[in-house]
Amino acid sequence: MKLFEIQILVFVALLFVCPSFVHGWGVDGHLTVCRIAQPRLSEAAANAVKDLLPASADDDLGSLCSWADRVKFHYPWSSPLHYIDTPDNLCTYLYSRDCKDENGIKDRCVAGAINNYTSQLLSYGKDAASQHNLTEALLFLAHFVGDIHQPLHVGFTSDKGGNTIDVHWYTRKTVLHHVWDDNIIETAEQRYDNSDVDELIDALQKNITAEWADKVKTWETCSSGKPPCPNVYASESIKAACNWAYKGVSENSVLEDDYFLTRLPIVNLRLAQGGVRLAAALNSIFG
Ligand SMILES: *[C@@H]1O[C@H](CO)[C@@H](O)[C@H](O)[C@H]1NC(C)=O
Ligand SMILES: *[C@@H]1O[C@H](CO)[C@@H](O)[C@H](O)[C@H]1NC(C)=O
Ligand SMILES: *[C@@H]1O[C@H](CO)[C@@H](O)[C@H](O)[C@H]1NC(C)=O
Repeated sequence: MKLFEIQILVFVALLFVCPSFVHGWGVDGHLTVCRIAQPRLSEAAANAVKDLLPASADDDLGSLCSWADRVKFHYPWSSPLHYIDTPDNLCTYLYSRDCKDENGIKDRCVAGAINNYTSQLLSYGKDAASQHNLTEALLFLAHFVGDIHQPLHVGFTSDKGGNTIDVHWYTRKTVLHHVWDDNIIETAEQRYDNSDVDELIDALQKNITAEWADKVKTWETCSSGKPPCPNVYASESIKAACNWAYKGVSENSVLEDDYFLTRLPIVNLRLAQGGVRLAAALNSIFG
């Protein structure tokens, strides 16, 4: 084999083992959301999660929190379920107007998917044989509650949530969407956490019990109905997308410390809210 062919093979192999090439919070973002959620589960929810996870996961929801990104290739129908496109520059979200795929098919967006997999999981322990694969329902739900908290997963239609906006992250070329999936988290890990995602998770957990302790109750509850309340999370995301992600950014912007230092608190908050709300949803579903 020629060297060039080997390089192509290695690159293709890397695409499969590094799901951060595809969009959604990157692997560390999703891992963080699931790791924050799991210790907050009630006994009933913890038992259901343990029962539904494949044995290979060793009762660690985090290890499969990016499963939904890895199956996009085998389940192409699931791709539109990771995000919501809202009208350009409007900075609002409405389920009836926005939750559809590119062909206009209703409910095919991340908010519709959260409702779908929540209602499937509500059949756990009730029907002798559910018509749905509840292991997949759990893995989709855990992933999508993370995605809906990534501000640019509820972004503008024409730029595909920042995927078509080229920027530089310090000296590297990337797109705005990827900055919010991965780069802000990676730079924070390198600077503050010894490049270790566990240190980031610990720091967020400390803030959940201290700085944010008064707010956690309001994150966990929905003003109407039981958690999850994806319409609330999506409305918060498009507001954060307008106020922070898109703000001051244009084609070929160079994003450096000014951007990183002011946006990192938003990323930290959204990861913490995602984790707290995933636990609240599972606790409500499994009773
Ligand atoms: C609901 O879940 C089923 C099973 O995974 C899937 O086929 C369907 O596309 C999902 N629909 C939505 C809107 O999430
Ligand atoms: C449910 O989905 C998982 C993950 O895709 C798969 O490994 C398992 O075989 C499925 N279970 C059934 C009963 O189809
Ligand atoms: C935790 O809260 C402190 C004080 O507000 C803040 O400086 C720090 O950046 C926060 N860390 C995380 C990971 O949220």
